[in-house]
Amino acid sequence: MAQKLSIKDLDLAGKKVLIRVDFNVPLENGTITDDTRIRASLPTIQYVLNQGGSAILMSHLGRPKGKPDPQFSLAPCAKRLSELLKRPVQMAPDCCGPTVEKMAHDLQPGDVLLLENLRFHKGEEKPEEEPTFASALSELGEVYVNDAFGSAHRAHASTTTIAQFFPGRAAAGFLMEKEIAYLGSTLLNPRRPFCAVLGGAKISTKFKVIEAFIQKADVLLIGGAMAYTFFKSENIPIGDSLYEEDFINVARELLEVDTQSRCRILLPTDVVIARQIDPQAETRIVRVQEGIPEGYQGVDIGPETIQRYISELNKAATIFWNGPLGIFECPPFAKGTQEIAKAMANLSATTIVGGGDSVAAVEQAGVADRMSHISTGGGASLEYIEFGKLPGVEALTDKQATAKTTK
Ligand code: 3PG
Repeated sequence: MAQKLSIKDLDLAGKKVLIRVDFNVPLENGTITDDTRIRASLPTIQYVLNQGGSAILMSHLGRPKGKPDPQFSLAPCAKRLSELLKRPVQMAPDCCGPTVEKMAHDLQPGDVLLLENLRFHKGEEKPEEEPTFASALSELGEVYVNDAFGSAHRAHASTTTIAQFFPGRAAAGFLMEKEIAYLGSTLLNPRRPFCAVLGGAKISTKFKVIEAFIQKADVLLIGGAMAYTFFKSENIPIGDSLYEEDFINVARELLEVDTQSRCRILLPTDVVIARQIDPQAETRIVRVQEGIPEGYQGVDIGPETIQRYISELNKAATIFWNGPLGIFECPPFAKGTQEIAKAMANLSATTIVGGGDSVAAVEQAGVADRMSHISTGGGASLEYIEFGKLPGVEALTDKQATAKTTK
């Protein structure tokens, strides 16, 4: 992928800088339960302000389906950002229209304005149906910076279409650059041995990534409920465990590809089973080859598998992890996920955690600060690995296309 223009290449003094951030944070009753994505955007916002620019931030939150819905308002993010920046953050009542245009127009250097949820307008997710939306957004700023790595796999108005209105002035923010550096350079050209750990419930959402890793990695460690579709493909009884009937053949084919590639796929050899998903449930450990009895379901990888997987991690120079290895939200079923997280934290290998539940898992294990990189993008990191590019990154100005430039 061509190198992209960096925020550092732009002259920002006195400029209104339109920044796409990803403030799609988890909320419970209007309270942000994890502000990681807001904190991750601070270096870019702070840099713009330090350079004498003003920041106009735009983001989506949730999936409000193209119309205003107060439960998806970004107002809690404005409040949290203001606390983190230690300066006022104005909250716009919408993301376009005369009132917002005036608010943007009146900004002074050092001011911060957060636009209301982009997905309150259909034109955000369907730019082709409402092309005026991207152009209305573009009118608000003089330069465009995309720092929303978590949304870079979406070809939406604010992530992709808008860049065309900023020829030579559409740059990557610091978070975007860091994500590209780790996920791009490190994973596309990794130090070897390269070990990928993939968990989570569904093979259907991850088989393309598994295929990509079979091409790139030296060893692939599988856990989580998706392991049971692999077991089923080998005619191993799985009791009441979750599996995907429609993907049994895909699982079988993936294991066959494995025999022809240099990448080894390892599956659990023992698992923890329980009758119910309940912290009080009685658990047992069974060997996979013996099968899981009816009435039980697999809930975690077993102790032998933990040891096998850790000995593979110990040999690796680069490790990528996405998806929990068991039902880690339920403490008795969290051991496999936690032990893998702790083992990764103690290694000198480059360790990259790819978004979503795995981030919650490393935080639960108390080792988040000991990973080389924790991606803010779940879907985006997986699509980057699968395709080697993302629409939100592709749309930015190529570095060689311009020198230091302004509107
Ligand atoms: C994410 O959380 O993965 C991004 O913010 C994208 O959100 P979306 O899946 O609703 O497009």
